[in-house]
This record gives sequence, structure tokens and C-alpha cells, in this order.
Amino acid sequence: MRLRRSSARASAPGKVVLFGEHFVIYDNPAILAAIDRRVNVTVHVNTSGSINITSDLGLIASFEGSTFHLLKGTTETKTILAPLCECARLVLSERGCNLGLDIELVSNLPESVGLGSSAACCVAITAAVDSLFHEPDRYWVCSKAAESERLIHKDSSGADCNISAFGGMMYFVKSKGFTNIYSKKELSLGLINTGKKHSTANLVSSVKKFKDINRFSFKVLASLSNAICQKAFAAIKEGDEQMLGNLMSQNHVLLQEIGVSDKTIDELVDLCLTNGACGAKLTGAGGGGSVVVLVPHNEDGSKIFFDGIGKNGWGSESIPVKVDYNGVLVA
Ligand code: MEV
Repeated sequence: MRLRRSSARASAPGKVVLFGEHFVIYDNPAILAAIDRRVNVTVHVNTSGSINITSDLGLIASFEGSTFHLLKGTTETKTILAPLCECARLVLSERGCNLGLDIELVSNLPESVGLGSSAACCVAITAAVDSLFHEPDRYWVCSKAAESERLIHKDSSGADCNISAFGGMMYFVKSKGFTNIYSKKELSLGLINTGKKHSTANLVSSVKKFKDINRFSFKVLASLSNAICQKAFAAIKEGDEQMLGNLMSQNHVLLQEIGVSDKTIDELVDLCLTNGACGAKLTGAGGGGSVVVLVPHNEDGSKIFFDGIGKNGWGSESIPVKVDYNGVLVA
């Protein structure tokens, strides 16, 4: 395919998993929301033939065929950037074009804390590179980004790439795709970042071990997660925040059972509830990461909550978030 331009920009949102993480990998439903925090990607065609990636995490590397050159960063730079290089190469190969690219990543999404930064990077890079050739199709971007995300964690359900590509709120099942959910009432969501980074791949494999050892319990927990998702779908549509909060807390107990919560997260969930939240739970893979909280949708509810969290020392780590309805954007 012929190039239609020599540079492009795209951005893609992060996400929160409101219900069903981990169980979604085994084809149970999950409910996700895209959030108003994004990864921004700029791509320029270069004449060197190599793929050069700069990230505002302080990482710079160049990939020349199978040779990796570390220009700035740590020993982890290759692990972080190589899948993103493959993501760009996948699009180039699909478009039958072997090009050198300079890729710059700027993110306002903290990484490795359950907010979907890997998926957002894959979605934004796929869209930016594809838009060098033509107007990208969201479904295509989503499926290619999900292929690339599997290089980062091989058992990915694909939920994160779907929500990042399409935005909004969705009910997602791996084998069936997604259904959009629209709420009668705006949901006031917040995030608290524990600051403890995790590896999604390690957590997913620890849950697999749990599942293999505790087959019957896992089946029961998965069916409870499934039932919570069905009720949550209805509660979001109705804008019933008390019901929704309650279901979030129930979902958190299931995540404790499969071993992905920890003391800090459990204490934070309790702190949220004692400060007026309707509900709170870990979000994403767990093992640290972030807590998602639903607060009453009125000024008082939100103020009481964030003031209380601030007094307990978590002020700088807690932020209100809005649902992003744009999904991936190409400029
Ligand atoms: C991560 O955001 C959600 C997990 O269920 C992994 C996945 O769905 O790929 C833990």
C-alpha cells in the first residue's frame, strides 16, 4: 500500500475494569470503562530504515532488523519497547511496506498499575502507523493491537484493547466481543494508585495455578463473577450507584479469593467505604496497582470522599476520573 503521508499522530485512552477481571480470560464477562487519561503517539517516517522509539518514561531505543540498541534507559527497556516495535512492524507488514519509523510516546497514564497502558500504547501505535497509509478502521486497529498486546502478556483476553479502541463503557466477553453500556446517570469514578507496580503476566499465571489446583472453587467463583456482571450491567443502565457500589465490593471479595489483592489494596478499599464511597475494588490485574472507587454523584459526595482520602495520606495518589467516549483518535 502507498504512503499517503510521512507523519501521523494518534492517542488512545486507558481503562478501568469495573467488574470481572481475570475471570474474563476464561470467557466470563467483564465490564470496563475507558478513562480520560491517554497515551499519545507521534510517528515519523525516517530514511534510516530502523524503528526508533522514545518514551517519556525516559527510555530511548533503536531496533535495526533483529539488533537492539539501547540509547537511554534501564535493563528493562528492551522488554518494554520490543513489543511496541513489533506492534509497528505488524502494521507495516500488513500494509506490505518496510519502512523506518521514529515513534514518540507521551503518556498521562501511569504504567503497570492496572490502567491499561500497554493496551493503550498498542492501540495508539497501530492507529498512528496505519494512518500513514489510509484512514484506519477501529475494528482492524483493535484486533491488530490485541495481537501485539499478546506479546506483552500472552493470555490477554483482549478486553483492554477493545475498550481503548472504542471508548465508553462495555460488557465484554472474549469469544463474543462487546456490547456498549449507556448509563441513565453519570457515574462518579475515582482511582487510587497504590504505587506498587505489577506484572500482569505474572498475576495471570498465578490465577491459572489457583484455577488448576482449585478447579471446583474457581468454577463457583467464576459463576459468582458472571452473576455480578449481569446485575452490574442492569445497575449501570439504571444509574443505580448504591447497587453498583455494592456489586463492586462483592467483586473485590472474589478477587481476594483468587489471591490477587494485598494488604494495601484491602485497607484502601475499606478506607474508601468509610469515607462515603458507594463501592470500591481493585481494578485490573491486582498485586498492587490501583483501586477504582464509585462515589455518590453529587458535589458533597465527591468532596467528602476526596477530603477524607487526603486526610489519610492518599491525597496525591487519588484522582477523580471521567468515562472517555472517544476511544482511539487519529490526527
Ligand atoms: C487486565 O486489565 C485484566 C486481566 O483480566 C487481563 C486480561 O483480561 O487480559 C487481568
